[in-house]
Amino acid sequence: MTAQPADVCVIGGGIIGLAAAHEFTQRGASVTVLEAAAVGERGAAGVAAGMIAPASEVDVSHPDLTRLALASHGEYPDWIARIEAASGMTTGFEQSGTLWVAVHRDHHAWLEQLRAFQAERGLDAVRLTAAEVREREPLLAPNVSGGLLARDDWQVDPRRLLQALAVAVERGGGTITEHTAADGIERSGEGWTVLARREDDAPPEHIRTRRLVVAPGAPGPGLLDAFPLLSGLRPVKGQILRLHGDVLARHVIRTPEVYLVPRADGELVLGATVEEMGFDRRVTAGAVHDLLREARRVMPGIAELELVEARAGFRPALRDHLPAIGSIGATEDGLFVAAGHYRNGVALAPVTARLLADLVCEGRADPLLAPFDPMRFAHSGAPGEATP
Ligand code: GLY
Repeated sequence: MTAQPADVCVIGGGIIGLAAAHEFTQRGASVTVLEAAAVGERGAAGVAAGMIAPASEVDVSHPDLTRLALASHGEYPDWIARIEAASGMTTGFEQSGTLWVAVHRDHHAWLEQLRAFQAERGLDAVRLTAAEVREREPLLAPNVSGGLLARDDWQVDPRRLLQALAVAVERGGGTITEHTAADGIERSGEGWTVLARREDDAPPEHIRTRRLVVAPGAPGPGLLDAFPLLSGLRPVKGQILRLHGDVLARHVIRTPEVYLVPRADGELVLGATVEEMGFDRRVTAGAVHDLLREARRVMPGIAELELVEARAGFRPALRDHLPAIGSIGATEDGLFVAAGHYRNGVALAPVTARLLADLVCEGRADPLLAPFDPMRFAHSGAPGEATP
């Protein structure tokens, strides 16, 4: 008997692929997700700190991206509540805010610029004196000379969120097939056939689907060869450290050089480098040294914590550092992409999932998505591919 085609096949079980798959199941679609490794093993979200900071990543901000991030931010509490209810799991979602701190004069100028940027967008951000900063975080270093409390910057634990999403997808009737990579796609009848290859070298399977969503994260050479439409994606390396011990802070602490993301269970994530190094998985002595030095400068107590993990991950980036979310060709062709979320995969997951589901399940394109059309690089043949 030939299996019925799925309504939607999602290639990629990272945060974007799983968030989208979950939303598709909520709209009544039958969903199959193909993940090349185990959920959380390779993708950016397994390494990410989990900041939901719609206006704090000013250096990469773009008005359209900020608009999308603000929409996602508005959806976050309810989205998390739905995933936690559907999975029966918690995700470490915290709304305690980010405390930006200044340790030298340049930082004060930066914080003033950031306050104005946040205020213009209606976000809650207030400048604090050194005493006010220390009142909120007594273990900060004595050289911290002021700060900015961004109450609308939140955080979630991306590893727990991924596992909760996976459970929510399966409880919603979806199937997640791990250790299975997509080797190629073909148009077939009204839909698509995906050539799926298992890691254990079992014979490849042909998976039929009415609509196909490619959510590849930072794809390796195999997927890039099979999908020329992704050839503009590049990995941007980030090195990150995980410490563990006494809880030293309640807020995410940031300077322009480092972020410290505390979790209630005693984990403290320090991040992150931004490096154009291709798929270089090495953790370097220099990066570890720099992250620890900058973090210790603002929070000396980190020296007593255990260093439990040092890891490199890859942010998926397109040439303009904006995501590509939408259809490839006409919506009726049934081929969609959600890629290139760069530093903002965790922050943009809810809005990406909702808008993609509007498009994939109901054929409705929200104007919010217009700047993120995957075909915006069509003159060069692929999203993000450099113009000659
Ligand atoms: N979103 C934080 C980072 O990419 O390092």
